[in-house]
Amino acid sequence: MCAGNKGPPPPEKSRIEPSSTALLDDPLDFFFAEHFRQRELCNLLEEMARADRLDRRLAAEVIAFLRHDLVLHIQDEEEDLYPMMRRRCPPEDEIERVFTALTAEHAGGRVLAERMNTGLEAALREGRAGAAQSGLREAMLEFARSERRHLALENAVVLPLARRRLTPKDLEAMAVRMRARRAQEPAREGA
Ligand SMILES: [Fe+2]
Ligand SMILES: [Fe+2]
Repeated sequence: MCAGNKGPPPPEKSRIEPSSTALLDDPLDFFFAEHFRQRELCNLLEEMARADRLDRRLAAEVIAFLRHDLVLHIQDEEEDLYPMMRRRCPPEDEIERVFTALTAEHAGGRVLAERMNTGLEAALREGRAGAAQSGLREAMLEFARSERRHLALENAVVLPLARRRLTPKDLEAMAVRMRARRAQEPAREGA
């Protein structure tokens, strides 16, 4: 049955698990948990790229994740985690080189996220499979591929180094800022 031009799908259990804000007591644990959720996103993007029908609920969930969760995560890293580590890591850690690459990947990810949002919104309007939208399938597959690489580098290099270099006070200050960032956000359905 063609989904047609209907309103938003009814709420149901999310395919991506909710953000574990209780973990913010230890922001590094929270970053690992968010990375796990981003891996779930990558799996779902590949599922959508292969599907010959549009899962409207999933499309809406993916749009919300890209617009909200991923934006907050990149702010957490670029405005809090990376600057804090720049202050604490000695030159021999050579972390600046890593942050330059990761920040460039964030920028590339933003471009792909915008392309995916535009394509998924069009797919929802027209009731067509995501794979049928020009460029959407490619954007979903490219994002999943590059995001997995990005997550692997952050999990294997950045977060373990942060654990060694950041002090309990640093982590506390970071947790305060990350909580404040979320408090400023309008409440989101299912969040
Ligand atoms: Fe990350
Ligand atoms: Fe990142």
